Amino acid sequence: MAGRIPDAFIDDIVARTDIVEVIGSRVPLKRAGREYHARCPFHDERTPSFTVSPTKQFYHCFGCGAHGTVIRFLMDYERMEFLDAVEDLAARAGMEVPRETRQVNQSGEVRDLYAALEAAQAFFRGQLAGNAGASAYLQRRGVDAATAERFGIGWAAESWDALKTALGTDERRLKLLDRAGLLSTSDSGRVYDKFRSRIMFPIHDRRGRVIAFGGRVLEKDDGPKYLNSPETALFHKGRELYGLWQVRQAHAKIARLIVVEGYMDVVSLFQFGVTEAVATLGTATTPDHAELLFRNAADVYFCFDGDRAGRAAAWKAVESVLPRMRDGRQAFYLFLPEGEDPDSIVRAEGAQGFDARLKSATPLSEFVFAELGHEVNLNTLDGRARLAERARPMLERIPDGAFRDLMLAQLHTLTGVGAAEAPARGQASPAPPARGPGLPGGQRRSVVRSAIQMLLQQPSLAEEAAPPYAFQDLDQPGVGLLVDMITLARQRPGITTGALLEHFAERPEGAALQKLAVADLPGEAAAWRSEFHDALASLARTRIVQRISQLQAAGPLDDTGKAELRELLVQRAQR
Ligand code: UTP
Ligand code: MN
Repeated sequence: MAGRIPDAFIDDIVARTDIVEVIGSRVPLKRAGREYHARCPFHDERTPSFTVSPTKQFYHCFGCGAHGTVIRFLMDYERMEFLDAVEDLAARAGMEVPRETRQVNQSGEVRDLYAALEAAQAFFRGQLAGNAGASAYLQRRGVDAATAERFGIGWAAESWDALKTALGTDERRLKLLDRAGLLSTSDSGRVYDKFRSRIMFPIHDRRGRVIAFGGRVLEKDDGPKYLNSPETALFHKGRELYGLWQVRQAHAKIARLIVVEGYMDVVSLFQFGVTEAVATLGTATTPDHAELLFRNAADVYFCFDGDRAGRAAAWKAVESVLPRMRDGRQAFYLFLPEGEDPDSIVRAEGAQGFDARLKSATPLSEFVFAELGHEVNLNTLDGRARLAERARPMLERIPDGAFRDLMLAQLHTLTGVGAAEAPARGQASPAPPARGPGLPGGQRRSVVRSAIQMLLQQPSLAEEAAPPYAFQDLDQPGVGLLVDMITLARQRPGITTGALLEHFAERPEGAALQKLAVADLPGEAAAWRSEFHDALASLARTRIVQRISQLQAAGPLDDTGKAELRELLVQRAQR
């Protein structure tokens, strides 16, 4: 939905809102120089490492790495959705959210879909009360009435058209039921209830609205054990987590989330007092899931079967999680004994037993190296080289930060490889080759990096540069980003550091940018303008030199090539 509000409007909101006022009304802030400090509301701490900067219009926690604009703060602190946070701030500022956004968001069609699902949910619940078999099943599985109520569990009757007849009373309603994923159509065109003879688990979105269902058969042989709603306008299974709504209802602040595989696991854990479990809906953990998990809790535990399939699923989760491992986040893996699942464990061992298992879960770093090191003999040079080679592409996907440093250090300990990139940064040793996309990694004080940092801290510097940028084809890490940032800052005069960061938050360089924005720049702000100008000039010079050697290395040149080379040589002499 974010895309539907013009970016310029978002920037405007961020610029017009006083972040100190918004955060200060929720968290006691203390002034310290140009900034404000507090104990971080996103993790437990005794000494304040949470800072709010009125000039940069963003907050940052040096302890857990939480950071962002006032919008992000409301989303994380008040658990608001993006659109709600924007509307809230707009109302405060007396601004109107651009109209088309609202219309799309609350269009009649979407509202009717929610209503149809809500009605289906009520219908299924009503059916449960009247069905002895279904109630007996829940009782046999030990689901008590309060839990069934909390999760809205219902029953789809043994009938081809119970729901269809009850709710599809006219063409329009029938169509809605179909679009909500509640009906099926046979080859011959007959329309019938999709869910029949099944215990129904409603799936809620982040605001508690029903968006889909999972249905379980009573007996083993009645078709697939679980049947889920198809993807619809409201339901994308790769983005939803079963139980998250209930967890959020139960906790003002979620310290940890536990990811399990099944509906019944979530329900049982909750009933036995482990009230932080969610389930992926019959899919592997997607990157969207990973982001959603970490936006709700700093610590995430992934629970899997101990068998081969479980390990494979765990590895899939690793691939989704690594790129999301920003500072302050932790992931753990728990493998259960064969034949057990969280439901059976918590019934046998209680919440305490399950908690004890979580306490001994394997940290992500350990799991990654154990899997990568599988069948590799670390006593041989060959084996160590093999591990290093396998690890590199994985580690490259981790955002800049403490976790990445830790992983690189661990790799170095295990293999002796990767020393140049290990934490001992900023030393006099020759800079390692830059890696992947992103900011210049090893060369901490590269020109590109300091230009980006100055621009971030004082976006109005972009006035110093006008396209075409002489350095824009320079082949160096970070140049593309610098160009993008200048372009954006020129389009939005008055943009703040926080708003600028927000634009690049989802890029791989997002975490690194955050750090640059936080770190204090040496020197006087007044002097930055000429420094920034010099940095760009220096990059332009480097580009000329680079292009000259490219042309010279290219071998015999045609006439255009020769002309270009001559021109460049003149330019070099002039600069
Ligand atoms: P399991 O088969 O492990 O079942 O499926 P379970 O959760 O232990 O279920 P109970 O305890 O027998 O009731 C784990 C999860 O995989 C998905 C469901 O999300 C299920 O909860 N699944 C499984 C399906 O989507 N379809 C299936 O046919 C089976
Ligand atoms: Mn089970």
